[in-house]
Amino acid sequence: MSATIRSAASRRSSLRADCTTHCARRTTERPSVGLAIGMSHLRLSRSAGADARVANFPRPVVRDRIFYGLFETLRAKDPYTAAHSLRVERLARLLCLRIGLDALTTHNVCAAAVLHDIGKLAVPDAVLTKPSRLTNGEFAVIKQHPADGEALLQFMPDYRALLPMIRHHHEWTDGSGYPDGLIGDDIPFTARVIQVADCVDAMAVSRAYAAARPVMEIISELDRGAGIQFHANLAQTTIAMLEAEPELLTSMHLD
Ligand SMILES: [Fe+2]
Repeated sequence: MSATIRSAASRRSSLRADCTTHCARRTTERPSVGLAIGMSHLRLSRSAGADARVANFPRPVVRDRIFYGLFETLRAKDPYTAAHSLRVERLARLLCLRIGLDALTTHNVCAAAVLHDIGKLAVPDAVLTKPSRLTNGEFAVIKQHPADGEALLQFMPDYRALLPMIRHHHEWTDGSGYPDGLIGDDIPFTARVIQVADCVDAMAVSRAYAAARPVMEIISELDRGAGIQFHANLAQTTIAMLEAEPELLTSMHLD
């Protein structure tokens, strides 16, 4: 562990509080054929509704409906987490474009972003929607959601490429994240894309116990957490994106 990381330990608690209660290398991940992703797809799914002919649809469409069904289940459980997940998908997609990830990897990152908190289905409502800060015991329950999400999808072959992103979206570069405490490049790069998008959205939204933070404050947190909490280059890319378009986060929250 570097001196930089050690000297930054005192800043961890404030950084962590911003995203844990919601919660580059080009990759050659296995295709997740049939997963439709993105806000527009999800909106279409709601208007389409259940279709009795689904059994006659080509397999990719059936797979899409499983994806939609998972997301709608999350929405029924916790509309806040569902809306957050869609904003994370949009941020992650923009980041993928900025860093030039290939189409397949971008596709998988976006699909994983939509479902990154699917493990929260296993979190009791009293904990998940608690309108005040969590106790240590409650936080321990929340911290199980990345592994629970992986477990939920592990037997679905088309979702295999998403599993590392779902399991590791709360890992920190310095190894102080969870569930596995992975360090640096041991964390899948794609999971780190989702992690930074996840934390940015968590900071940008008001909660019962924390007001939304202005974009300049979010930029400062990204700068402070670069190389500690976040992949350094991804943090800087996100900063550049927010500096170029300061209204980006606000506009996303108007949806
Ligand atoms: Fe999460």
